[in-house]
Amino acid sequence: MAKRWTNDLTHDDITPERVFLNRRQLIAGLGAGSILAATPGQSRAQDALEPNSYEDITNYCNYYEFGTGKTDPAANAHTLTTSPWSVKIDGMVDNPGDYALSEIMEKMTIEERIYRFRCVEAWSMVVPWNGFELADLLQMAGVKPEAKYVAFETVLRPDEMPGVRYPVLDWPYVEGLRLDEAKHPLTIMATGLYGKPLPNQNGAPLRLVVPWKYGFKSIKSIIRITLTDTQPPTSWNKANAREYGFYSNVNPEVDHPRWSQATERPLGGGLFSRRKPTLMFNGYDEVAGLYEAMDLRKNF
Ligand code: MTE
Repeated sequence: MAKRWTNDLTHDDITPERVFLNRRQLIAGLGAGSILAATPGQSRAQDALEPNSYEDITNYCNYYEFGTGKTDPAANAHTLTTSPWSVKIDGMVDNPGDYALSEIMEKMTIEERIYRFRCVEAWSMVVPWNGFELADLLQMAGVKPEAKYVAFETVLRPDEMPGVRYPVLDWPYVEGLRLDEAKHPLTIMATGLYGKPLPNQNGAPLRLVVPWKYGFKSIKSIIRITLTDTQPPTSWNKANAREYGFYSNVNPEVDHPRWSQATERPLGGGLFSRRKPTLMFNGYDEVAGLYEAMDLRKNF
């Protein structure tokens, strides 16, 4: 299958795995003062000096089914059984059914996508995902013309997920996209990172990644995908509609009611991390056309 997408990030932008080594080099190479004095708007080359790592990506997680602390998912998510795994695809599709993930994987083209990842909490990282385009999966299912949205659901297993004892969210975790967003070539279903299978805490064995939206749209451990003609409910919007909208596009001009979204804290810099400006659509300007006619303040 031909690749339909090009990438402005390179391997130099990945948070290298050896964060501590790199941090030492950074400290050795530059005076601490010059790091702290670095101003917003620095080049990507400088970004690459302040790396995240495989360790950062897999130990600083949000996966509330395993606890609300950043390190809870890494500590607890090993209890999740991820094989065998199947995904129900239903609703307005020609070929509804329970698809074994192994069967899906055989049909899909797995690519590496190095994406910026921006959490609504205003931290960010760069992640080298492995996965396939959601558009290809939707094509396999055969989307009926009346479908307008795609709804996603995370597995709910109280025996394997200690966090769901607490009513932090209305379980199971659910998310949704407009069909054109879902079909955009940037939207992927991730199955791995750093060339390794997705760790449980990052949403194994299959999660959504929508790089121009806040991280909470990137729903983990998906067991159901439903094509529908009505806007689906989403977990954080149900929990607090004033703070979390359906669209949740990264937008430095629309603040969260409790904090600014103008800047972000790149993970991995430790003591020396400095904030950098957040980019509209997280830097993925090619999606702007999806929202041309929309007021992004109202549709936050
Ligand atoms: N999916 C489920 N099922 N449960 C969650 O708590 N957290 C979301 C999103 N997907 C979450 C989820 C949030 S808030 C973020 S920022 C990202 O996952 C974090 O992904 P990461 O832990 O792989 O960085």
